[in-house]
Amino acid sequence: MKPFYITTPIYYVNDVPHLGHAYTTIAADALARYHRMRGDDTRFLTGTDEHGQKVEETARKRGLTPRQLTDEVAPRFVDAWRALGISNDDFIRTTEPRHAKVVHDLWRKVADAGDLYLATYQGWYCVGCEAFYTESQLEKNGEAWHCTTHKRPVDWVDKERSWFFKLSKYQQPLLDYIAQHPSFIQPEQYRNEVVAFVKSGLKDLSVSRTSFDWGIPVPDPDPEGHSHVIYVWMDALTNYLSALGDEGSPERRFWPATCHLIGKDILRFHAVYWPCFLMSAGLPLPRTIYTHGWWSVKGQKIAKSMPATRIAPLELSTQLGVTSRELGVDAMRYYLLREIPLGNDGDFTFDSMFSRYNADLANDLGNLVSRSLTMIGKFAPQAPPRHDAALAADGAHRALADAAATAIRDGAALLDTYAVSRALEAIWGLVREGNRYVDATQPWVLARDAAKAGELGHVLHGLSATMWILARLIAPVLPETSRVLRGWLGDDTALSWPDPAAFAAAPDRLPPGPGGVLFPRLDDKKQAAIEAAVLPLAAEPAAAPAPAPAPASVAPAIAFDDFAKVELRVGKVLTAVRVPKADKLLHLSVDLGESKPRSIVAGIAQRYAPEELVGRQVLVVANLAPRKMRGLESEGMILAAGDDAILGLGGVDADVPPGTRVR
Ligand code: MSP
Repeated sequence: MKPFYITTPIYYVNDVPHLGHAYTTIAADALARYHRMRGDDTRFLTGTDEHGQKVEETARKRGLTPRQLTDEVAPRFVDAWRALGISNDDFIRTTEPRHAKVVHDLWRKVADAGDLYLATYQGWYCVGCEAFYTESQLEKNGEAWHCTTHKRPVDWVDKERSWFFKLSKYQQPLLDYIAQHPSFIQPEQYRNEVVAFVKSGLKDLSVSRTSFDWGIPVPDPDPEGHSHVIYVWMDALTNYLSALGDEGSPERRFWPATCHLIGKDILRFHAVYWPCFLMSAGLPLPRTIYTHGWWSVKGQKIAKSMPATRIAPLELSTQLGVTSRELGVDAMRYYLLREIPLGNDGDFTFDSMFSRYNADLANDLGNLVSRSLTMIGKFAPQAPPRHDAALAADGAHRALADAAATAIRDGAALLDTYAVSRALEAIWGLVREGNRYVDATQPWVLARDAAKAGELGHVLHGLSATMWILARLIAPVLPETSRVLRGWLGDDTALSWPDPAAFAAAPDRLPPGPGGVLFPRLDDKKQAAIEAAVLPLAAEPAAAPAPAPAPASVAPAIAFDDFAKVELRVGKVLTAVRVPKADKLLHLSVDLGESKPRSIVAGIAQRYAPEELVGRQVLVVANLAPRKMRGLESEGMILAAGDDAILGLGGVDADVPPGTRVR
């Protein structure tokens, strides 16, 4: 089996997951899912970057220790990816001991190669980028030098004792490597950018800091007695290796990584520093560093200071999922991956998203599926689906089979080269051909003529084969839609990428039922309601309100039997969104270990931001009669402390399975 190892950047825990983070993670997820379908030995890694000055400063501002901050925020990434159905095989945190060990191993190797020396650093540092800059790389704004990315003043680092890495030594070897490996840095525009940067001259790099201590300690002693922590980028980049375990562990077979998928903001660290560290350590370089563009929201950069840009991916998908949140996730994935090619910048707007949804998902795909299932259901009793090789040779029949083969072949070739948007375009070529096929063959006309039963059966087979194939081709990007569609088709065969000849051989099995609507059309009213309900993601968790005075008296005693009637259970919050036009209410789905999560409306929105609750354990009154609140079904009550103002949520101090009884 061919190994395929794909990684996302590990995200800083100074922010909570927003649309930009979700984009990289979703793109990597689609590629990982595709390679699993190809039968490749696939590994997909994501995680969090928890050290460095930026995280330390954020913690200080919030009155937390860095450890408290990282322990609070890292689970939000874990939970967000779980709620979005991301299929990562591992999640690495740079504060884990397994990581520090491998960082030390790498440091040792680089030191043994003679590439580290002690010196004094003086210069500019951008805490936002966690990077040193020369003045030629900055811009002057008034009197102060500013970072061109973060548009904020940079800090002056005054004569800090530091270990230096001999980056300059690798200038030529790196240029040679890039020249010999055309697929190393992709797309091409980014390769050119890196080559120009390297040619302009690489200076040795400061790879340790002594002015703060939130990082992995340098293993080598400093003869002057300073204690150093390893530069956060050297620490962070090593996650791609450390998540595979020590040398000799079975997961190390995945090295070198097939693809580091990154945003264009962090190209230099990945395409210059990381390869040079690896060369110094005598380790092979990743095969491809694939750089994607940058999403803005309605023309503006996504920023903590700009609430309107802070689209919460989970809320967006919950609102977009008219029939289910999971299908909303798929609709969001489709929009993000179809709208722009992976290397380009994109601008998120609700209008462009609704247009894509209505045109491609509701109309093209939705129509094909519902028409096909309806016709198969109606006509199969008189003309069972059966492929007829003689009919298949010409006209509309031939066009459909050709479109299927093309979608399978081109879709694969494009996904193999990270052209996800174009792959979807190729796959939609088959969706559109399927719709044309229905119009051209007019099964309802064939059905009127008993002599045409053979042709009708062939058409029904064609439609069922098209759906069988599409259910597979869409699976990397629309995994839940694929699952639902395969259920409707009664298709329980293994999910693999079909062979170009699959059309004729697609199973003739009859769908067990009529199916349903995957993506209902969104009219103007629904669009406005969705847009209004997607509220901005909070930059920080809501602050705790002042403590309330203790209640004056306790209610009259009740008998134990009365208390025993209340069924309390531990629940786990799967999703949480604000209820439109109700500032106190959140709408939660809570796992109580039952066949489906409970829908619960809770008056806790003034104390908790939705994204804070996802993944959290809560106590639920599980046998309260359901009631409707603001048109939403509430099937339980969450226990919370406080009278009018909620001060805290009830919970358990151990991780227990959802549904566990509380007494
Ligand atoms: N911690 C570093 C990466 C270390 S990797 C060894 C970091 N973290 S980050 O939290 O700032 O995440 C940056 C990444 O998030 C980008 O490279 C990109 O993958 C993704 N995005 C963040 N905002 C984005 C957009 N607005 N648009 C697209 N992707 C964006 O840098």
